Amino acid sequence: VTLKIAQYGLGQIGREVARFAFQKRKIEYLGAVDVDPQIVGRDIGELLSLDRLGISVIHEKESAPLLRQADVTIHTTSSRLKGVIDQLMNIAKAGSDVVSSCEELSYPFHENPALSRRVNEIAEANGVTILGTGVNPGFAMDTIAIVTSACCQEIAMIEIHRIVDASVRRVSLQKKIGVGMSKEDFIEKVRVGLIGHVGLKESAWMLMDSFDWSSGTVTESIEPVIADRHFRTEHFDVSTGRVCGVDQTVSGQVAGRRVLMLRLQMYLGAKSLDSVYIQGRPPLRMIFEGGIHGDAATPAILLNMAPRVAEASPGLKTMLDMALPRISG
Ligand SMILES: NC(=O)c1ccc[n+]([C@@H]2O[C@H](COP(=O)([O-])OP(=O)(O)OC[C@H]3O[C@@H](n4cnc5c(N)ncnc54)[C@H](OP(=O)(O)O)[C@@H]3O)[C@@H](O)[C@H]2O)c1
Repeated sequence: VTLKIAQYGLGQIGREVARFAFQKRKIEYLGAVDVDPQIVGRDIGELLSLDRLGISVIHEKESAPLLRQADVTIHTTSSRLKGVIDQLMNIAKAGSDVVSSCEELSYPFHENPALSRRVNEIAEANGVTILGTGVNPGFAMDTIAIVTSACCQEIAMIEIHRIVDASVRRVSLQKKIGVGMSKEDFIEKVRVGLIGHVGLKESAWMLMDSFDWSSGTVTESIEPVIADRHFRTEHFDVSTGRVCGVDQTVSGQVAGRRVLMLRLQMYLGAKSLDSVYIQGRPPLRMIFEGGIHGDAATPAILLNMAPRVAEASPGLKTMLDMALPRISG
C-alpha cells in the first residue's frame, strides 16, 4: 500500500525527512507546510539542492487542502507541546494522522498531563492517530530498553548512557546545548528552560511506567561541559574555558531506591556511543559502537513509523502502543 505523506515543518530535520521520503517506494510525497518566509513559496527540490520538483512550500494558513490529501503528516517544528497544539489541531482537523518529532509529545502524561488530555481529545474527535517519536526521545533512551526487557524475568535497575559528538550534528542541536556560551550564561539559560535537551524526562517516565515504577519520582540535572581546548565548527568558534556541550542526567527513584539512570552527554569532540544496561535476571548490556547518529536516524524512524501510525486506532499514542517498530518500504 502506498502512503500519502505531507510534511509540517521543513527545517533541518524536515529536509532530511523529505530526502528520505523520495527514496521510499511506498510513499507518495505530497508537499510541505512551513511559516519561514525564506522558504514559503520556494520549490522543495531546489531547497534540497535537487532538481526542481514543481512542488512549492505552502504557508501554514493555506495548508488545509494539502493536509486533507495526506494519510500521514510528518510534523517537525518544535520541541514544546504547548507550542505545537494548534499545529496538531490543524493537521487533525484535516483528517491526517501525525508522526511528530516534538520531544514533549513522545510521552507527555506526567510532565504535561492537561495538554496530553487535550491532544488525545483532538485526535479522537477527528478520528486520527497522533504519535510523538524520534531517536531521542523515541528510541535510543527508551524504546530499545523497553523492547529488550521482554527477555527479563525481573529488573532491578536500568542505566542508559548516550554520548554524542555534537561537532558532527546540526547547528540547531549545537545551539540548544549551549556551544560557545560562558558558564554563567549557560546556567541562566538552563534556569529559564532555553538550554538543554528536551525529552529526557519523557523517556524516563516511559520507562518508569513500563516497569511498574509509576509511583516513583524523576529528577533532572543539567551541567555544562567546558572546552579543554579550542574548537572550531562550521558555525562556532569555541575557546578553552567556554561551554562546548551539555551533561544531562535524569534519575528515577522508587521508595528511596534508584531504579533508573539516564545520562546524556552531547559535546564537541565526544566519542559517540550508546549503551543500555539492564541490571536484572538475566543481566543485559547493549552497546552501539559509534552511537546512533541522530540526524540520519531521526528521519528514518519518523517515516518508518508512518505505516504503523496509519494502521493504529485514533488517539494520542506513544511508542508503547505501536506494533513492533521496523523499517518500512
Ligand atoms: N525526537 C527526536 O529524536 C528529535 C530529533 C531531531 C529533532 N527533533 C526536534 O524536531 C524539531 C525540528 O527540528 P529541526 O532541527 O528541523 O528544527 P528547525 O530547523 O528549527 O526547523 C523547524 C521548522 O519548522 C518551522 N515552523 C515553526 N513553526 C511552524 C508552524 N506553526 N507551521 C509550520 N512550520 C513551522 C520553522 O520555521 P521558522 O524557522 O520560521 O520558525 C522551521 O522552518 C525540533 O523541535 C527538534 O528538537 C526531535
